[in-house]
Amino acid sequence: MTDSFPKRIAVVPGDGIGKEVIAQAVSVAKASKAKVEFVEFDWSADRYLRDGTTIPADGFAMLSRDFDAIFVGALGDPRVPSNIHAKDILLGMRFKMDLYANVRPVKCLDDSLCPLKNATATSIDFVVVRENTEGAYVDVGGVFKQGTPDEIAVQEDVNTRKGVERVIRYAFDYARKIGRKKVLMTDKSNVMTYAHGLWQRVFEEVCAEYGDIQSSHMYVDALCMHMVRDPSQFDVIVTNNMFGDIITDLAAALQGGLGMAASGNIHPGKTSMFEPVHGSAPPFAGKNIANPMGAILTAAMMLDHLGFSAEAKKINEAVVAAVRQKKTTQDIGGALGTRECGDWIAARVVG
Ligand code: NAD
Ligand code: IPM
Ligand code: MN
Repeated sequence: MTDSFPKRIAVVPGDGIGKEVIAQAVSVAKASKAKVEFVEFDWSADRYLRDGTTIPADGFAMLSRDFDAIFVGALGDPRVPSNIHAKDILLGMRFKMDLYANVRPVKCLDDSLCPLKNATATSIDFVVVRENTEGAYVDVGGVFKQGTPDEIAVQEDVNTRKGVERVIRYAFDYARKIGRKKVLMTDKSNVMTYAHGLWQRVFEEVCAEYGDIQSSHMYVDALCMHMVRDPSQFDVIVTNNMFGDIITDLAAALQGGLGMAASGNIHPGKTSMFEPVHGSAPPFAGKNIANPMGAILTAAMMLDHLGFSAEAKKINEAVVAAVRQKKTTQDIGGALGTRECGDWIAARVVG
């Protein structure tokens, strides 16, 4: 974090459609006149293939010291099958900068985007808080007798009391902050009795401290069914890293598709990172067809986090207007390209 004003934002467009949607989102953020400045970094598959750099040695320290937020497009490229650059950059930021709460709002902006029969947009409005620094993502494991019929593969799922407690507490505090009344924890404690037994015990302890918030639990398989059958029942859902990843792609479909979903990777008081939920979508790359709205809504989320709530509101309203007037890309029924959609929203934000 810096003491500087304007606030400083590091931009990592990354790979594929990440580059295209981030260009639009930055131009919309500039149109909002929020007092921020952007510094771009070329960390990506291109850079890795060119000189072997995924992230420079002092990269994370520099981001924490010199920036107030990080804005990332997407990482992932078929030319790097190991995905090493994405792991180093994206998971590196989440883990090494300790951005423990992955906040993924799930809001359907208009009935035209709602994929459910007999449901309206207003019934889809909840937030997933995903643990972001441990679980099955810790990269602890190994293989034994690889390539033989006796091969063994082990991938550890690490859950610490500290990690579980802080994200559950974050979910309750977040519910209070946004004026919501319910926090639901989802897990698979009927099978993963050790790991999710810990989540159960910690959840019960933390719940007791938040008498104003109603708490409940669902197994993750049942949750998926309920998300489709009646999403109106949810306010804030808290879960582990892997389940959070999976349920937020399902949740993105409730918003109109992956092109509409925003997210923040947060550690209160530290430099946090914001990225759309979608990936680099290689088949869409370079064709000016990717939906920039997820990235634009993510920019709004980041500005709000940095204290520019009026500017964020203006951007959110402009996206809603674009959806209602069909100034959208093909994935949600419009006829505009990525740039044209971004330009329309930027012009609307200017007013
Ligand atoms: P993806 O999100 O890139 O794309 C899946 C599908 O979702 C696309 O084929 C497309 O139909 C749709 N989609 C996604 N974004 C869209 C947009 N903005 N507009 C319109 N439609 C959109 O997921 P994938 O194909 O599983 O992964 C591709 C690469 O991206 C992989 O390398 C993966 O590891 C990576 N990835 C990165 C991130 C990230 O950086 N945060 C997230 C997810 C996937
Ligand atoms: C996401 C992505 C990432 C994840 C991948 C690209 C590592 O799917 O942000 O949802 O699994 O967290
Ligand atoms: Mn994902």
